[in-house]
Amino acid sequence: MITRREGIALGLGAAAISIAPRAFAGGKRSLNDLAKVKGMRFGSCIGSGSGGGSFRNARYASLIERECGIIVPENDMKWQAIRPSATTFDFRPFDATLDYAARQKLPVRGHTLLWHRNKWMPAWMETHDFGARPATAADNMLTAHIDTLTARYKSQISSFDVVNETVMEDGSFAETALSHAIGGTETLVDQAFQRARAAMPKAQLVYNDYMSWETGGEKHRDGVLKLLEGFRKKGTPVDALGLQSHLVVSDSARPQEREWRMFIDEVVAMDYDLLITEFDVRDAALPADITQRDAGVAAITRSYLDLMVSYTQLRDVLVWGMVDSYSWLQGFEPRKDGLPTRGCPFDANFTAKPMHDAIAEAFRSAPPR
Ligand code: XIL
Repeated sequence: MITRREGIALGLGAAAISIAPRAFAGGKRSLNDLAKVKGMRFGSCIGSGSGGGSFRNARYASLIERECGIIVPENDMKWQAIRPSATTFDFRPFDATLDYAARQKLPVRGHTLLWHRNKWMPAWMETHDFGARPATAADNMLTAHIDTLTARYKSQISSFDVVNETVMEDGSFAETALSHAIGGTETLVDQAFQRARAAMPKAQLVYNDYMSWETGGEKHRDGVLKLLEGFRKKGTPVDALGLQSHLVVSDSARPQEREWRMFIDEVVAMDYDLLITEFDVRDAALPADITQRDAGVAAITRSYLDLMVSYTQLRDVLVWGMVDSYSWLQGFEPRKDGLPTRGCPFDANFTAKPMHDAIAEAFRSAPPR
């Protein structure tokens, strides 16, 4: 693809301008347009409520529509939201997101059919009575969940985070009331993928986990590899590993690029595709000064994405929110100095930050796929 600037440098003049790709307000090409040139997509999570990061916020929606080629619900598909009790579903918030996406012709990812962590299961699960035959009751509950959601959404969603975060920090597998009842985490996770595949023979089925390339992430990475190896041994239908990629900038947790590459090499050697599903940067350890902070966030963004886009198994890159002020990081990982965090591509005024440009540059220099 010849850009306008290169076209002029090559002496192509007006002809080059007419073949230059669509430019958006401000003269910048959208992140998704840059990704598309390389056979990739760029996207973000989105909410459906009254918060700023929702499609109901017209300004946010237009940023999403300008920059993104795919969206994912931030919370509305999780059990806590869509399954208010063992016997009921509340589809309304997620349906509203899907109506919005259909109007905008935006593809949607499914997140998630099972966030398998105690903290993120619905509260009612803890005290649920699985009866005299708990394994059957738990299996029925999971099956009803996956069958119901896939039947309702499979025509509009072709990639699902079937299971999210079932590997703990120490590499062990998470346990919950549901996994106890069904007879173990591996049985539960296997069954989730089997049901999803039965309902959707062609969808991309993803195991999604937070993953970290920093020091301290070793045991978790090993646990994920063990899980992925187990899937292949048992023939569990899993197509891809979703790397959430909530990066941390910290003196004590430095990127381990060599070890991270070895980890990704092992994953792709087992024939898994890759996605970046929830990219953002935790800037708590960076200085208050905004110029320095933004430069630090951009630098880690560039080095991580350059490494990741070198794998042509990676096609989708999604951020966990486009605008700093609406990011979950404000509440989840506040800075000690009380300043707002700056881990998203756009600032509170919707101005593109150096992190945005780092993402754009990583797409520009990515090999095509
Ligand atoms: C987060 C949302 O952003 C918050 O609004 C919510 O309170 C908690 O969940 N890993 C995931 C995402 O898989 O679903 C999480 O999203 C962030 C970490």
